[in-house]
Amino acid sequence: MPLAQTATLRSLPPYVFAELDRLKGAARARGATLVDLGIGSPDLPIAQGIIDALGASLRDAGIQGYPPFRGAPRLFDAIAGYMLERFGVTIDAPREALALSGAKEGIAGIIAALCGPGDIVLVPEIFYPVYARATWLVGAEVRWIPMRAADDFVLDLAAIPAEDARRARIMIVNYPNNPTGARVERDFYDRAVRFARAHDVLLLSDAAYSELTFDGTRAPRALESDPDRDVTLEFHSCSKMFSMAGLRIGFCVGNAGAVDALAAYRTNVGYGTATAVQHAAAYALTHQAELIPAKGAAYRSRRDTMASAFRNAGWDIVVPDATMYLWLPVPEGVDDWAWVQALIDHDGVVVTPGVAFGDGGRGYFRISLVRDEPTLAAAAGAIAARRSEMMRTA
Ligand SMILES: Cc1ncc(COP(=O)(O)O)c(C=O)c1O
Repeated sequence: MPLAQTATLRSLPPYVFAELDRLKGAARARGATLVDLGIGSPDLPIAQGIIDALGASLRDAGIQGYPPFRGAPRLFDAIAGYMLERFGVTIDAPREALALSGAKEGIAGIIAALCGPGDIVLVPEIFYPVYARATWLVGAEVRWIPMRAADDFVLDLAAIPAEDARRARIMIVNYPNNPTGARVERDFYDRAVRFARAHDVLLLSDAAYSELTFDGTRAPRALESDPDRDVTLEFHSCSKMFSMAGLRIGFCVGNAGAVDALAAYRTNVGYGTATAVQHAAAYALTHQAELIPAKGAAYRSRRDTMASAFRNAGWDIVVPDATMYLWLPVPEGVDDWAWVQALIDHDGVVVTPGVAFGDGGRGYFRISLVRDEPTLAAAAGAIAARRSEMMRTA
């Protein structure tokens, strides 16, 4: 039976990762073995304590029932402890937090809960795809916030036109940033909170990489600039900081009205997040002091291995001090897709073209640090050699 998708769904721009899948599929069909540094899917193992907590919870009486809609008490306690320990923020978790099956679904949910036709969502011009796609899906409009290399990829909030600010319901910010690896200091959040208050918008801070900072740097939180949770909702993810991407668990913390709105939306379309997975996340958060440094050290070491392999091959790259990505310029004179395809076809290395993150990402590509160091070093050597060759012939 031919099933027509809605006009809205059909109107979404092509998903770049689907095109990347096509290129990978074609290469594999030709017998190629690929090193996939495209999607940021963690390869580091889940800590044994987290697995044990998950297993123990599965044996709890009552585990067969639906989970509590908003969150398990054990997770709420752990979220409150984590926010206090890490960021000095005191919250009333059952009222101001919500368990999520990943930050992504929560971000889509809050957009659906607050926005409709005629509304605007302010989105960084280099963006994690769900920000814009969830907005378009509910018939609202996206307006891009300038995000330039010349400003170290810090959003230019002053450039937002007054009319857009007036119609905006949500402003999204994401630091440490996927894909650029950029970080901001506290003063950025002070400005963002001032903007949100002045224009009556929700400041949606996507903090998925807040724990992946290196070299003694620390990522401040939006909530540190909005201690009363006046305008801010922060999204946290256990996917990268604890390698729990496959278990689908995250949470949001912040303005109680926004939390209520998201909870109301989710109640209509789902049943909350698996209790055992929430208990595993509670274990992870209460053991963050021992678990997170190991993850950070692994990604930092991978970053350094790749940077030095690039340097040895004659390419001095800009090294980020956060996230699990490298954001590098496509060789001058070379088309973005031609570059990505050449790496797949000739070198068996998959990277993500910057356009996967919007037009603002044109001219760049992203490497995910999701393989061991020898593999990453070899990939860097191959990429650098291909770069030299393509620049010579461009
Ligand atoms: C910026 C950003 N936000 C959110 C997510 C999704 O997190 P989760 O796995 O918790 O849905 C990702 C995943 O790559 C991301 O890069």
